[in-house]
Amino acid sequence: MSFKRSHHCGELRKADAGKEVTLCGWVSKRRDHGGIIFIDLRDRSGLVQVVIDPAHDDRDFHKAETVRSEFVLQVSGTVRNRTEETINPNLPTGEVEVVVKELNILNPAKTPPFYIQDGVDVDENVRLRYRYLDLRRPEMQRNLMLRHKVTKLVRDFMDAQDFLEIETPMLCKSTPEGARDYLVPSRVNPGKFYALPQSPQLFKQILMVAGMEKYFQIARCFRDEDLRADRQPEFTQLDIEMSFIDEDDIMTLTENLIAYVFKHALGKELQVPFGRMTWDDAMDKYGSDKPDLRFGMQLVNMNEALKGTQFKVFKDIIDKGGLVKAINVKGYSAIPRRELDGLVDFVGIYGAKGLAWIIVNEDGSIKSPIAKFFSDEEMQRILAAGKAEKGDVLLFVADKNPLVVAAALGALRLEMGKRLNLIDPDKLAFTWVVKFPMFEYSEEEHRYVAMHHPFTSPCDEDVDKLLTDPAHVYAKAYDMVLNGVEIGGGSIRIHDRNVQNKVFEAIGLTDEQAQEKFGFLLNAFEYGAPPHGGLAFGLDRLVMLMAKRPSIRDVIAFPKTQSAMDLMSQAPNVVEEKQMRELHIRSTVVKKEKEEKK
Ligand code: AMO
Ligand code: AMP
Repeated sequence: MSFKRSHHCGELRKADAGKEVTLCGWVSKRRDHGGIIFIDLRDRSGLVQVVIDPAHDDRDFHKAETVRSEFVLQVSGTVRNRTEETINPNLPTGEVEVVVKELNILNPAKTPPFYIQDGVDVDENVRLRYRYLDLRRPEMQRNLMLRHKVTKLVRDFMDAQDFLEIETPMLCKSTPEGARDYLVPSRVNPGKFYALPQSPQLFKQILMVAGMEKYFQIARCFRDEDLRADRQPEFTQLDIEMSFIDEDDIMTLTENLIAYVFKHALGKELQVPFGRMTWDDAMDKYGSDKPDLRFGMQLVNMNEALKGTQFKVFKDIIDKGGLVKAINVKGYSAIPRRELDGLVDFVGIYGAKGLAWIIVNEDGSIKSPIAKFFSDEEMQRILAAGKAEKGDVLLFVADKNPLVVAAALGALRLEMGKRLNLIDPDKLAFTWVVKFPMFEYSEEEHRYVAMHHPFTSPCDEDVDKLLTDPAHVYAKAYDMVLNGVEIGGGSIRIHDRNVQNKVFEAIGLTDEQAQEKFGFLLNAFEYGAPPHGGLAFGLDRLVMLMAKRPSIRDVIAFPKTQSAMDLMSQAPNVVEEKQMRELHIRSTVVKKEKEEKK
């Protein structure tokens, strides 16, 4: 038997009427209609209706009667136009059907645990367990096709720009300053471990020292961190590095790349260059370093309007150098009391110690538990600062720590934007966020840590402050943000050894420690490092947004769950003791379980 097919199911059209075709695919549905059997046959290209009429061939008809959903079939027959009243306008092949002359059952199938169709509400764990069935759904097939198209376009674009695609190792040296590593024990080097790469960062910089000038890679990265909708333990970066360039070169190149990909994958023309916003501005106006610019509701600083206030909560915070900020939720004066109470809990998640509110009723009167603390004139100043008009609600968060105010109000802004349907899902709001702080203070480690990574170049005008005033040093770092998601980030790197030493010192690394951890990079830099910089896109996130999916799991063929499990293959699993012995490791968990069994 030949398994060759002449056509794909989803490509048959009116013009094919009269043609003899052979199709292969899965049974999407079988219907018996008074002695005639209709089967929707599906392959990657879509589905088409095939008809089995006992008048043609009894034997095939009986075979067709045994067919169930997801059986694998091969059919040969003639394409014919459907009658006017049986045309299905919702199907690209809806004007035709195939009258079967020969039917082969290539394989039967068990009844699948869920319907293989779009828009059905199936528990994600079941989808992940039977991923091969989930991936048969047209939507998932479209997502993976889009992903393929995006990577193909990326390669075309980068090649045309003279970039070289170069692979870097998966078994690497564990280096600190980042997320937690995934470790791989070495059999031939007892007691030693490789780390899976969190990104190809050091290798791509070394490739610049090696004179490759323009590098890119579609690279798998591994990070052992808490997982979310847009975070996976292994994910894919489109990684880029270039020599003899500055920030503008990288930003121009990468926004043109994104415009090219959107144009050719989705037919969407993007407006380049994208807007740019400093990190300070993003935090001030949106309370986030990845602002969603699809709607307004910016954060307003209320310190000035509240100057001299006698309301103790705000006064104490302002006196201590803290911040009072508000958002204006326009036209929502009818907000129920219960919802307001819920919002207090909501901001609590982000560390806010309270939420105050002022409602301007439609008649202009004020409703607010804190109104009594303000004079009329103060209230007018507050309303003016918040641009609050009749029907509006001002929501306030105050805290000594401006980062808490930003986190709480930034999240509240997004939440209210969602609740009030202010976010247009068809909008594409790109922005660059630039000039990140070089360091952030780690309360856990009691020291400054690099916000991006320690090879990021400080801004020229801040180099002198590296050791004296690290909190106010900015970096030549930039993130590309789309609809509130960080889709890429990068920086210009340090190529001056003196500056690099100062950065290490600022984050509390001694010379020896730096040598021990990054010695290979530092050594390479002694042999003529060109000025260089780069950026990495989160490919999964980019495709997720292009496909309008809520999670990157929908654009990854075999993703992991929140607890980093692959439910289909059941990884991770317990391994044989022999394997562990060979690797010179002992599991305390296995030992404990054994002892418990005794
Ligand atoms: P960064 O750590 O910002 O930079 O990562 C770059 C981009 O990768 C995506 N990303 C992730 N996607 C899915 N799951 C994750 N766990 C995850 N973590 C990050 C994000 C992010 O913008 N080497 C530097 C880049 C450089 O400096 O050139 C780096 O890795 O979209
Ligand atoms: P209290 O004096 O704690 O009862 O607070 C008086 C009002 O101020 C209440 O409406 C609180 O919700 C509000 N409030 C308290 N702390 C904060 C804060 N950190 N930010 C904003 N509002 C607050």
